[in-house]
Amino acid sequence: MDDNLLFEIRNLEKRYKIDVGLFKKEYFYAVNKVSFKVFRNEILGLVGESGSGKSTIGRLILKLIKKTDGDIYYKGKDLYKLTKLEEKKFRKETSIIFQDPRSSLNPRMKIYEILEEPLIVHKIDKKLRRYIIENSIINAGLDTTFLEKYPFELSGGQRQRVAIARAIVLNPDFIVADEPTSALDVSTQLQIINLIKKLKNENSLSVLFITHDLNVVGNISDRLIVLYRGKIMEKGNTTDILNYPLHPYTKLLIASLPVSHPKDRNKKELPKEVFREDIQNSCVFYHRCPYAEDRCKVEPDIKNINGREVYCHFV
Ligand SMILES: Nc1ncnc2c1ncn2[C@@H]1O[C@H](COP(=O)(O)OP(=O)(O)OP(=O)(O)O)[C@@H](O)[C@H]1O
Ligand SMILES: [Mg+2]
Repeated sequence: MDDNLLFEIRNLEKRYKIDVGLFKKEYFYAVNKVSFKVFRNEILGLVGESGSGKSTIGRLILKLIKKTDGDIYYKGKDLYKLTKLEEKKFRKETSIIFQDPRSSLNPRMKIYEILEEPLIVHKIDKKLRRYIIENSIINAGLDTTFLEKYPFELSGGQRQRVAIARAIVLNPDFIVADEPTSALDVSTQLQIINLIKKLKNENSLSVLFITHDLNVVGNISDRLIVLYRGKIMEKGNTTDILNYPLHPYTKLLIASLPVSHPKDRNKKELPKEVFREDIQNSCVFYHRCPYAEDRCKVEPDIKNINGREVYCHFV
């Protein structure tokens, strides 16, 4: 096994049953045959619009919700075939930062207690706990006076730092960061992004960084996955994708970003968005694709071009 490989996800699916009458069963695919790898010490960006399945993927690979189909391997082991001991180790080695620090921190607990909780769960010696807690709050960019405060006494950015301190308190190998900056103003966003980058470099951490904001992901991730309706549209090196998007959906996403410099304005060919009726078994982007043709009424294969994977008939 490749020692650098942390996760291998193959054809992962999460579907929900929809009620369409007594005798008919239909499914909604929140995550549809998704495959990707997470390597050690990398930030993997996961970008897509609301409802595309980003949080579902994050939760599936941490086993916070159950998969419907497909495989998840963590350090070479099937996540659904772990022994009790291995499962405990997996829980200790992985964690999550939630989107909204307001609801993810217990308002009745002091920051110290919030950070102590995972240490208690994993039976870390009481004498060691204060040292570890002080270390992680400092690592997250706050001083130890914050430990005696309650979440309501903190700003949004400070709360998100506490959420990060909690996520790193057990010195994990992997973190899902589910839109950790979307509730913050732009300059605080940047601070949090820099903090996550720093933690990745200093602690050889891997991060699945979830966002709907391409600007944010361009700033932080090494590799990128573009998701649409539970399917991967494009996957590859972040700078390559942002400079040369191959999938029509990625092109639309990039074209919709505000142009930072007036001289760049002409460079953008703006494909026009369209809206068509959905067809069963078509490319999942068919209904909105500016370039769609008859062949797009059938699902494309995933094509591999110089290490980039693209779900489209045109590449
Ligand atoms: N328990 C559930 N039952 C039915 N459908 C669900 C359930 N959980 C999620 N979904 C659906 O799965 C889809 C993907 O949801 P998910 O939360 O992963 O999206 P997301 O990309 O994280 O969106 P956002 O950017 O808004 O957070 C959504 O359409 C959602 O309605
Ligand atoms: Mg989400």
